[in-house]
Amino acid sequence: MKIKNLLSLSMFCCILFCNCNTTPPQEVNIIPKPVNLEIKEGCFSLTPATVINVVAGSEDLEAANRYFSELLSASLGAPLAITEGTAQKKAINVTVSPQLKPESYELTVDQQAIHITAGSGKGVFYAYQSLRQMLPVEIENGTPLKKINIQNVSIKDEPRFGYRGMMLDVCRHFFPVEDVKTYIDMLALHKLDRFHWHLTDDQGWRIEIKKYPKLMEIGSTRPETVIGRNSGEYDGTPVEGYYTQEEIREIVQYAADRYITIIPEIELPGHASAALASYPYLGCTGGPYEVEKLWGVFDDVFCAGKETTFQFFEEVFDEIIPLFPSEYIHIGGDECPKTRWKNCPDCQKRIRQEKLKNEAELQSYFVHRIENYLNSKGKKIIGWDEILEGGISQTATIMSWRGTQGGIRAAKQGNQVVMTPNNYVYLDYYQSKDTDKEPLAIGGYVPVDTVYSLNPTAGLNEAEAAKVIGVQANLWSEYIPQFSHVQYMTLPRMAALAEVAWTPNSLKDFADFKRRIPALMKRYEALNYNFARHLLATETQTAAETETK
Ligand code: ACM
Ligand code: ZN
Repeated sequence: MKIKNLLSLSMFCCILFCNCNTTPPQEVNIIPKPVNLEIKEGCFSLTPATVINVVAGSEDLEAANRYFSELLSASLGAPLAITEGTAQKKAINVTVSPQLKPESYELTVDQQAIHITAGSGKGVFYAYQSLRQMLPVEIENGTPLKKINIQNVSIKDEPRFGYRGMMLDVCRHFFPVEDVKTYIDMLALHKLDRFHWHLTDDQGWRIEIKKYPKLMEIGSTRPETVIGRNSGEYDGTPVEGYYTQEEIREIVQYAADRYITIIPEIELPGHASAALASYPYLGCTGGPYEVEKLWGVFDDVFCAGKETTFQFFEEVFDEIIPLFPSEYIHIGGDECPKTRWKNCPDCQKRIRQEKLKNEAELQSYFVHRIENYLNSKGKKIIGWDEILEGGISQTATIMSWRGTQGGIRAAKQGNQVVMTPNNYVYLDYYQSKDTDKEPLAIGGYVPVDTVYSLNPTAGLNEAEAAKVIGVQANLWSEYIPQFSHVQYMTLPRMAALAEVAWTPNSLKDFADFKRRIPALMKRYEALNYNFARHLLATETQTAAETETK
């Protein structure tokens, strides 16, 4: 039979049996690209009568089912009912199978039913995220739909890396609870599972610590901010805000409901101005200090000689630890000038007493002491790659930001690594060369294809590559005062990161990614997410150029 005849026959059958004639199913354009995807003939019609049926489950399935049921609620008029029992027709049958790896899932859509089998609730959640991208974008904004036709498929999928992260800096500019939740929603859509929350820095301390109230009274506010890139002129507008512990708990739960772990970052020993302004005895000179209004790296850092500095951090972490279930706490460690330590009698005394060679070793003494404390409380540390200088413990995880070199070094010496190289995944960098048409950015140039091209294990043998637990993109917010601008800088580069983090390197294909991205962008639009359209512009331009040839 000729292909054409076969197609008309299948269309005819479909009209009779699969009820896809009223609205054809969506194309299948899932990002990140699944490991294995087969498109089958026909479709499943999901209606308000479709149920989520738990065939074999576990406790942590509840959040996934609730999420998907509520996702469809506005469009279908009510959340999907959740039942338990053997697999049935007209249902989404969900099975948790210990045979599968926790994050992996299999998703089959056929005429009769949808079947999801996954290693855990997290895997089920990812099956739902794939399914979501096969639904019309109208579900994202609650447009009423009587029936949703879903293309028949068979998907087998699992992530390449167990750590798939995005960082948000809420210190340089503050983003309220609702914005943070939206950011978490953006991560969930892209199957990312770590939210690195940069909570303390020179320009603001953003987390309530009950024992140290001045961190909120003084440290969370700056009266004004320098205009542009340290122009010398100031805008006269205060930037203030912090998250109460109650809000933190609410956000941690919100993230957990999306199978996202929040890793808080409490910066030390540098980027300390907001804390020093609040409690000047934490510095080497005793101040006075102020919450920074400029951008950059500042000489006033936490004093490594005084015991009161360590008492401060232990008490701060005593409040942080119960708020965050994460096994990791990020302790910063980057960009710590040694100028004050060189001239501080307490720091110099510490160097002599501890028989340290120099100030670089004093930094590693500082980090080790904090690490030991956190380890004693059952937590592990992540630090920026500067913590390699002066020696690090085997249990610390390195976040390689100054390119991949630090990460490669760390992996070769046996430390765990998260790759966040600035030349690939610093999303505060420009995404276009046409910088005149862009909002002011810190500099650099990281277009979507550069993000996409990152292979986090390049340059490593198999054993070393196994030390790379994942990849993350970072958004520093010096030049990003609005949340819509956060979205503009992260979308769609977050989608490229998602594919780096999830899809096997051998299956990555930027041309294919570009083919799939417009469908995801339609979803961003329906969700009212702001996003950058450079990829679409290139397409249009290419089409226009081709036409004139
Ligand atoms: C960093 O970008 N300073 C970690
Ligand atoms: Zn000192």
